[in-house]
Amino acid sequence: MTEQSPALDNLLTESRSFPPGAEFAGAANVGPDVYGAAEEDREEFWAEQARRLSWDTGWSRVLDWSGAPFAKWFAGGRLNVAYNCVDRHVEAGFGDQVAIHWVGEPGDTRDITYAQLKDDVSRAANALVSVGVVAGDVVAIQLQMVPEAIVAMLACARIGALHSVVFGGFSPTALRARVDDAAAKVVITSDGQYRRGKAAPMKANVDEALAGAESVEKVIVVRRTGDALEGATPWVAGRDVWWHDLVDAQPAEHRPEAFDSEHPLFILYTSGTTGRPKGILHTSGGYLTQAAYTHHVVFDHKPGVDVYWCTADIGWITGHSYIVYGPLANRVTQVVYEGTPNTPHEGRHWEIIQKYKVSIYYTAPTLIRTFMKWGADIPAKYDLSSLRVLGSVGEPINPEAWIWYRDTIGASKTPIVDTWWQTETGAIMISPLPGVTATKPGSAQRALPGISAKVVDDTGTEVPPGGGGYLVLDKPWPSMLRGVWGDDERFRDTYWSRFAEQGFYFAGDGAKYDTDGDIWLLGRVDDVMNVSGHRISTTEVESALVSHPAVAEAAVVGASDPTTGQGIVAFVILRAAHTTDSGGEDAVQELRNHVAKEIGPIAKPRQILIVPELPKTRSGKIMRRLLRDIAENRTIGDVTTLADSSVMDLISAGLNTGK
Ligand code: PRX
Repeated sequence: MTEQSPALDNLLTESRSFPPGAEFAGAANVGPDVYGAAEEDREEFWAEQARRLSWDTGWSRVLDWSGAPFAKWFAGGRLNVAYNCVDRHVEAGFGDQVAIHWVGEPGDTRDITYAQLKDDVSRAANALVSVGVVAGDVVAIQLQMVPEAIVAMLACARIGALHSVVFGGFSPTALRARVDDAAAKVVITSDGQYRRGKAAPMKANVDEALAGAESVEKVIVVRRTGDALEGATPWVAGRDVWWHDLVDAQPAEHRPEAFDSEHPLFILYTSGTTGRPKGILHTSGGYLTQAAYTHHVVFDHKPGVDVYWCTADIGWITGHSYIVYGPLANRVTQVVYEGTPNTPHEGRHWEIIQKYKVSIYYTAPTLIRTFMKWGADIPAKYDLSSLRVLGSVGEPINPEAWIWYRDTIGASKTPIVDTWWQTETGAIMISPLPGVTATKPGSAQRALPGISAKVVDDTGTEVPPGGGGYLVLDKPWPSMLRGVWGDDERFRDTYWSRFAEQGFYFAGDGAKYDTDGDIWLLGRVDDVMNVSGHRISTTEVESALVSHPAVAEAAVVGASDPTTGQGIVAFVILRAAHTTDSGGEDAVQELRNHVAKEIGPIAKPRQILIVPELPKTRSGKIMRRLLRDIAENRTIGDVTTLADSSVMDLISAGLNTGK
């Protein structure tokens, strides 16, 4: 059905399998019987997991699906999410346990215990209240990986405000679109951030974004780079306030109020198939239940024993669910690292693992492939023997990278959990269990206990073992999205209309079963690209390109890339007035920078090809399939549905002669 990149082809011929060691299996948090128990009574299974949390009021109903596709989980129950992630551990006598070993990029460190985290979150909650934030308000957070980012998120949760975290690498335009869409009342950011050894401004970009933004009443600024940054931090009197002035002066006592299980917890924007990002809405009780349960079983996490490190950024869902909510609800001790993996040297991650004796490490295939490129001699210099579980997320992991990860980082014995999920699913859905599953390189394998996933054909019929098709989730799950912010229709259209008759959630991923019935994810089937594990829509980049005066038309495709999974390749038709200059070299540079400015550096096309025409069907739809053939240097496929089949010759001829 879907076209596969060559990198994925060998996924389909992979047949190795690695059962868990007896010792690991014997001590694991769950055994093989967990699947059967969950199957027998799914609702009771999830109720049991919800009881791992602390509730002020019990629920009256586990699942209310009467308003499908809008689910209510643990209906009638009340809890405070931040209390569950922080206070209850202090009350249980673990106040002195380190919650966060924070490592700054320049080498500064902070260890924060649960008792300190409770004080910090309480102060920040009081600070937000003092500037007028109330339950239901939206607070936008654009911060790098500093402890204040986590504290700010938990402070919002504590007072029932929704956070909308915006990745630090997003442009002012992208930040503004998100601030406006949710009418954010407060923005939390920093003066600047360290990136590859240098201080770069952050507040200046935020100011550019917020010029004329009417909803924003306060901007709270964390001092991070201070004097390392040239010039004074730009300041809007009356609107801006330093975090240390506002927060540090607050009392460390704050009584957490219980909120309804379905009270909104956060919005997180993600790319869809149109140019406008979607605000994915998550709520409290069900989300926390599944984030915490999956962190407990997928990583076999033992509180007070393990040292956990998820390398994601809080700007993405992985940072929300597997740095903040799931791990802290489970009383984790975790590493949070501010910087890039090669600053100041390419062994930085291994050095940190050695220093803190990290036992669970969760990262993305793109980084694993980068480590491979840097060479096995780098991790070989460090003691990585503390590692006992390795995780992967964000894109399909190719078997070579999987094996390298296990052999080079995991001493040829550490289980690898390849976890499939999405911003929309809120938490892990398909993954091996490290003490149960015989793992297969490149396969996420099986829906977790209490979760149901299927591979179906065009008509929604499940394909047989060995067959391929679309991945669907055929039963509601606790951490499922509760909608697209302000756009119920888009929510129904995007996820629930493709298989409306069956009531399946359409994930947008291609998948196949192997002959054992295990699931192999094969990448997106829509116009969403996956670049270094970041979701970017082709239309979003196209809109950015055509917003430049030199561009008449643009088409963007994701072409397979050995390191980043996919790379962005743009085909651009220039306006007549711009086609005369230097074979387009200057235009290409300028357009790449323009996209970075419009969306952010992560969306910069790897390649921009100036072309005279674009291949279109008779109804005017751009045939990206053909452009992908060019971008991946393949023989061009079937052109019979093109309105003008000579267009491809024209494009190829132009590219070959460099015109
Ligand atoms: O295509 C799948 C891919 O990432 C998409 C979700 O992206 P996002 O919402 O940004 O969340 C990423 C982190 C959870 C999916 O539709 N994806 C994620 N994990 C995997 C994956 N593809 C294959 N294997 C995975 N383990």
